[in-house]
Amino acid sequence: MAIDKGKFSDVTAVAEALRPSYPVYCMRPDVLAASARRFISQFPGTVLYAVKCNPHPLVLSALYKGGIRHFDTASLPEIAQITDGFEDAHTYFMHPVKARAVIKSAYKVYGVRHFVVDHRDELDKVAEEAGTQGNTIIVRVNTPPADDTLYHLAAKFGAAPDDAAELMRAAAARGCAVGLAFHVGSQCRSPEAYSNALALLGGIIDQAGVDPVCIDVGGGFPAAYGDRPVPELGAYMEAIRRGLKSLKLKPTVDVFAEPGRALVAHGCSLLTQVQLRKDNRLYINDGIYGSLSEMATVAIRLPARVIRLDGPVSETMAEFALNGPTCDSLDVLPGTFALPDDVREGDWIEIDQVGAYSNALATRFNGFHPETFVQVFDAPPAVAAA
Ligand SMILES: Cc1ncc(COP(=O)(O)O)c(C=O)c1O
Repeated sequence: MAIDKGKFSDVTAVAEALRPSYPVYCMRPDVLAASARRFISQFPGTVLYAVKCNPHPLVLSALYKGGIRHFDTASLPEIAQITDGFEDAHTYFMHPVKARAVIKSAYKVYGVRHFVVDHRDELDKVAEEAGTQGNTIIVRVNTPPADDTLYHLAAKFGAAPDDAAELMRAAAARGCAVGLAFHVGSQCRSPEAYSNALALLGGIIDQAGVDPVCIDVGGGFPAAYGDRPVPELGAYMEAIRRGLKSLKLKPTVDVFAEPGRALVAHGCSLLTQVQLRKDNRLYINDGIYGSLSEMATVAIRLPARVIRLDGPVSETMAEFALNGPTCDSLDVLPGTFALPDDVREGDWIEIDQVGAYSNALATRFNGFHPETFVQVFDAPPAVAAA
């Protein structure tokens, strides 16, 4: 259950009004909408937001306001949320493994017409449950792992190139329109990963002898977390344009991207509170089983700053370990955070850039579940500090 605590000018005003002892997501709808507009203006095709990254209703409506009308959905609840929430939205079923009943409902109840497959049996399932006429089968290809990504999303899904060509032919023979998709991996720092993957797709298209109706370059576009620089979005678009050009596609071919992280990471920060200080260890009220699991699983580093209402903080900085609220000893954020050396119980710590894979991954372990959110209209701390 999401708890809406309203709108505030900035995060200090949130601390003043709520004095929260629970973690609060500080959503920045203007930042999210601007991020959607920026991506849409640069991408040479249709932008599908990957709902899994952050399905919070406020995030979805801000992206919608920024112009997003197409959504990469991976489950029936995601499809229902988008279809029920936005009359003119289009959903695409981008999960390569789907239950039969789910395929049927997506097609019949929600009007989904794009289905990803990466195996012959899944193609058969989609054909049996949703039919073939008017449907587009998008074959997910297993592209080689790109250097410099946080997650390799080809480890679990994706057909090998020969199998992908075979799947394209099989889908076309059944009367479906056919497309190709890949995912270079999340937080991909190498624009060339996209042109390389598109070159691989060129070979598959030639081998299959089937004209695709769409090419989907997936997600993976990085967020500028600040621990390591990432190339500008323009460099990715340039690599994609180059890769698409080499495919010599018909002008009618739709080009899709499915960004998640790059659209939302910097549109939300997290207001946590210090519950106890033990020397240079701080115990805060959110952690790896809540909003911050990616800090442990893929070692992203997030910026943090202290908010104190009853006086100034020290200008001398020290390194602190941050412990999460659960009783599990694993619930400690990796590394240390530079914070004022007099940080103490009751201070708030705003952790920035938590818009991606935060609330979406949070558990209820130990009874801790971050669910309170507010809207704020200040510049995100990472931007303000730059
Ligand atoms: C099929 C698919 N598309 C898009 C995304 C979004 O990826 P990212 O957040 O790296 O842009 C994911 C992430 O898991 C995915 O599995």
